[in-house]
Amino acid sequence: MGDGARATTARMSGTVIELATEADLAEVARLERRCFSDPWSARSFADLVANSRVLFLCARTHAGGPAVGYVVAWFVADEGEIANLAVSPDERGKGVGSALLDAALAEATRRGAITVYLEVRDSNEIARALYGSRGFEEIGRRRRYYRRPVEDAVILRRTLASPVVNADQ
Ligand SMILES: CC(C)(COP(=O)(O)OP(=O)(O)OC[C@H]1O[C@@H](n2cnc3c(N)ncnc32)[C@H](O)[C@@H]1OP(=O)(O)O)[C@@H](O)C(=O)NCCC(=O)NCCS
Repeated sequence: MGDGARATTARMSGTVIELATEADLAEVARLERRCFSDPWSARSFADLVANSRVLFLCARTHAGGPAVGYVVAWFVADEGEIANLAVSPDERGKGVGSALLDAALAEATRRGAITVYLEVRDSNEIARALYGSRGFEEIGRRRRYYRRPVEDAVILRRTLASPVVNADQ
């Protein structure tokens, strides 16, 4: 994880973002249930720790403090996907979600991803504003993709800087 997380630290005094470990799983699963009507299971988070294709970051109010957010992204070849992002309802609007997303995009760049995808509920205006501010654009829809409640998914894509091709080669 690199500099991306640092760009938005001004509004999040003390917040630290680190790779999630097994010790974080119970807190993350609890946050997930607070943040989503159709949450991932605790087991699905456990399977992500120590998976080399996965970036799983946890944000805390301060080192050793309570978990306030997390992001999960995975990477295959030159593509990445932001698979999950959430911030505790008590800690929203302070830049934590932006910092987590920026950290995931920085990692995507570091791993050579050219495109990053994600899906978001059609009605999730706050998340869509956040993704739009980071250059994600709508490229399609999956009809009735989500459950509880049933709703369309909007598919977003962000293109990262293309690798530089040396004209002499
Ligand atoms: C989406 C979410 C992660 C944003 O986290 P956050 O820490 O509040 O985000 P930030 O404070 O970094 O704000 C980022 C941007 O989100 C948007 N935003 C945040 N709060 C908002 C609000 N109350 N109204 C409208 N837009 C808002 C703004 O675009 C904001 O950028 P700005 O501050 O430059 O205007 C958080 O709202 C959340 O966990 N929601 C529930 C789970 C979820 O929907 N996850 C995404 C699934 S795809």
